[in-house]
Amino acid sequence: MRVDFDIPTNRLETDSIRWDAYDSKKVLPLWVADMDFQSPPCVIQALSNRIQHGIFGYTHSPKQFNQIIARYLLNQYDWSVDPDWIVILPSVVSALYTAVQQLTNVNESVLIPNPVYHHLRLACTEAGRKYHDLPLRLVDQRWVLPNKELPYIATQDTKLALLCNPQNPGSTVFNKDELMGFGDFCIKNNLWICSDEIHAGLVLDGKKHIPIASLSKEVSKRTVTLMSLNKTFNFPGVGLAWAVAENPDLRNSMQTGLHQTIAEPSLFAYTATLAAITDGEPWRQELLQYLQTNRDLVTSRINHIDNLSVGKIEGSYLAWIDCTNLNHQNPHKLFLDAGVATSPGSQFGQPNFIRLNFGTQKSKLAKALDIIQNACLR
Ligand SMILES: Cc1ncc(COP(=O)(O)O)c(C=O)c1O
Repeated sequence: MRVDFDIPTNRLETDSIRWDAYDSKKVLPLWVADMDFQSPPCVIQALSNRIQHGIFGYTHSPKQFNQIIARYLLNQYDWSVDPDWIVILPSVVSALYTAVQQLTNVNESVLIPNPVYHHLRLACTEAGRKYHDLPLRLVDQRWVLPNKELPYIATQDTKLALLCNPQNPGSTVFNKDELMGFGDFCIKNNLWICSDEIHAGLVLDGKKHIPIASLSKEVSKRTVTLMSLNKTFNFPGVGLAWAVAENPDLRNSMQTGLHQTIAEPSLFAYTATLAAITDGEPWRQELLQYLQTNRDLVTSRINHIDNLSVGKIEGSYLAWIDCTNLNHQNPHKLFLDAGVATSPGSQFGQPNFIRLNFGTQKSKLAKALDIIQNACLR
């Protein structure tokens, strides 16, 4: 299979959140986390076959769906999961909110990494739960968990730790030691863990993603793992997610509201996910190669611009760029006014940073990097 990810795509007039927010004649939009590539041909074909049928009635999940997911987890991550541990959900975001609401009481608090994908924090504030930041540290150019500081950060009332692995933003793919340190701390302090692993399929450089729940029975019994193929195969608009929880109490919690206030996934979500699991692997491998070359371009260009820097990007397509030395009040606005829309670091808890989405054609990326470089010269 040869996929040409350089082929230009046009997302105007498709109601794209990323492309409709700004005037596309003036601004290159590299913010919200979806990619400018078509999904794999197997996904497009499966959806188109389903559409041709023309009847879109109430639909249950495909036969053996949980078994198929369990086999996928074993193949991809050496993670042995009983199909009964899997709960099918419409999205990772709704699952994050459910986890915080169900796994803590009002008087209990939550640990969350900082910086982090904003919905981890919002899940706490919207539920009226206190949270404590786990400030990530840049060590050897990787944003790592503050494992040694954990005992001083958790309090008597801490009940739940949220993890984002691979990390967004910061793109760290946590290694076994880092995860073991974190897992041990959670065991010692009797904390539940909810691990958002939506970026697991986008680990670069042939590294392996390690689901934290795969470390040991003890960790598995206190963990809810959230996964989805939305990011990897670029279909978040028709997506579906799943939670894996060995502990039946945690599993029941994740089912709260399902098919009541939380709708089930659409039939297209099942179709797209099943096709990606069954036939998407060759496309994914090519995508990873392309993203690596984009990652290399971003890393070398940004680190050659005075006053900007970016650490090692180990996964996904999101560069977390430190603009502290620019001494600019609002780096996001600086680059937006120059013609590139990034995500403001404040969204993730760090106003001196921006997040650049490099899941796009190399020609667009190179143009965006030129604009960023010129904006820094002014
Ligand atoms: C860490 C993380 N979790 C969840 C999501 C969104 O998941 P979903 O589209 O399934 O709600 C994103 C999207 O950017 C993300 O980066």
